[in-house]
Amino acid sequence: MTIAPVQRSTSLGSSAWTDARLILALEEVVEKELNRHLKVAKEWMPHEFVPWSRGRDFDGVLGGEAWQSADSKVTPLGRVSLVVNLLTEDNLPSYHHEIATMFGREGAWGAWVHRWTAEEGRHGIAIRDYLLTTRAVDPVELERARMAHMSEGFESDNAHSMLQSVAYVAFQELATRISHRNTGHFAGCELADQLLAKIANDENLHMIFYRNLLKAALEIAPDQAMRAIADVVTDFRMPGHGIPGFERAAAQIALGGVYNLRIHHDDVLQPVLRHLKVMDVQGLGPEGARAQQELGVFLEGLDAQAAKFEERQAALLARRAARKQA
Ligand SMILES: [Fe+2]
Ligand SMILES: [Fe+2]
Repeated sequence: MTIAPVQRSTSLGSSAWTDARLILALEEVVEKELNRHLKVAKEWMPHEFVPWSRGRDFDGVLGGEAWQSADSKVTPLGRVSLVVNLLTEDNLPSYHHEIATMFGREGAWGAWVHRWTAEEGRHGIAIRDYLLTTRAVDPVELERARMAHMSEGFESDNAHSMLQSVAYVAFQELATRISHRNTGHFAGCELADQLLAKIANDENLHMIFYRNLLKAALEIAPDQAMRAIADVVTDFRMPGHGIPGFERAAAQIALGGVYNLRIHHDDVLQPVLRHLKVMDVQGLGPEGARAQQELGVFLEGLDAQAAKFEERQAALLARRAARKQA
């Protein structure tokens, strides 16, 4: 199901960095960033965000009450979004496999891979406990979706390139942060908002780790790193794309303002690119300069697409509001 990292032939000449050399060259940066991460990451307890006293037995083995939609006040958008976020977190075993295969399980890289996995592990635990205790979603549907999604596994689009893998996770961790944060805002439940803010904070620290690593890569191998960034940005898709019914859920999530093209451009791509000053990198070779130019053209196009999306979104929401008043 998963492809081991392979070296792609490259047009960057014989001086090009191989993945193995890059991993070695970045080990010191990984160690420094891991230590910084461990200093700033504050311990938090997922169980404190679950209202256990509101929990009730379900039907089945314990003969409790079957789930019904009226059990919870969480908004429809909040429910859809919480489920997508949870199923995305659920696929952690596959993500762990992908990054452990790419970065290794030894030394500083290995220490990071395991620490990151431990932190990610609490996200799925906390969201599931919250959803089941508050009866926010159908537990049978949720379990079937989890089984279907995890049975598919997750195969990284970037398993052939170490630099693409680093670039992808830098953007993806921020995308996940924004998605959790906005889900909390629209969930209609203060506790869900607080829990998702905690999770979003973890994702933010993950983003900073990978972004700083990408910065170091841009200094060591600017042309290859620029190519990797351009390829990742132009081909980006969320890790949950394989979730059953993802397209429909993604459309609701976009319309509701949890995650859409405007947010992707303004709150995910641009902050990372600006922080790394990607568009201002000077002195690139022909391949790096071409990648930088491609990136610029793509971002302009994306911005225009986002503007069109916003027009459609406003029109649709206005029609809905008018229908409600009629
Ligand atoms: Fe997470
Ligand atoms: Fe994360």
